[in-house]
Amino acid sequence: MRLSSRVKLGVNIDHVATLRQARKEAEPDLLAAARVCRQAGADSVVVHLRRDRRHVQDEDLRKLCAAPGRVHLEISSEPAMVAAALKARPDSVCLVPERPGEVTTEGGLNLAKSGRAVKAAAARLKAKGVGVSLFIDPEAAAVRAARSLGADTVELCTTAYCAARGQKAVAQELERLELAAYLAYEMGLEVHAGHGLAYHNVKPVAAIPHLGGLNIGFSIVARSVFVGLKAAVSEMKELVS
Ligand code: PXP
Repeated sequence: MRLSSRVKLGVNIDHVATLRQARKEAEPDLLAAARVCRQAGADSVVVHLRRDRRHVQDEDLRKLCAAPGRVHLEISSEPAMVAAALKARPDSVCLVPERPGEVTTEGGLNLAKSGRAVKAAAARLKAKGVGVSLFIDPEAAAVRAARSLGADTVELCTTAYCAARGQKAVAQELERLELAAYLAYEMGLEVHAGHGLAYHNVKPVAAIPHLGGLNIGFSIVARSVFVGLKAAVSEMKELVS
């Protein structure tokens, strides 16, 4: 069953590629994974093309973008990464910070520090018709900066929400997300959120007013080991719908 919802679900399949790269074989096939995600209700497929190419490869990106369905790409703002994106032409790109050696993205962009590079990357992408999202912490200053740097969308980082322990701390983090979402919406930005979300903590985030999309990867791919990718995606789709 296909559920339609206000909150679109982007399924990040990086870790399908992580499994494949463990043996550098052809399986599991990323294109097949993308198809299953879409059949199960994913509104887009998300991949992070890392500088170190530790999981997704340029050729994966090329094939995913050539196949039917929306592809949302995460990259750093480096000119070489923007060039790789423009070669493949995903529907949209989220610019993220990337620290060499990090296990996963460690938080939102520091726009005070990287504003110039982000602005240049955003302009190059937008000039070619690629939608631009900026991954930011849920803070008013970051929302304002994202707007001024040319973002169409902000993706609010949910890491702190996911890491919060105890009712009060969780409520505080949720409120930060709600306030940032409201401000972004008021400024005319599309609002997305993601990172670290899982089946047990996604519902309050999905219920945030003005939220248009969630990008979720690790928890879905982890659950797919036990229930299969199709069931893992549709269970998540049902929770966010
Ligand atoms: N959003 C952004 C900007 C990310 O960098 C990632 C991880 O690639 C995700 C969402 C998905 O995070 P997770 O795999 O923890 O669900």
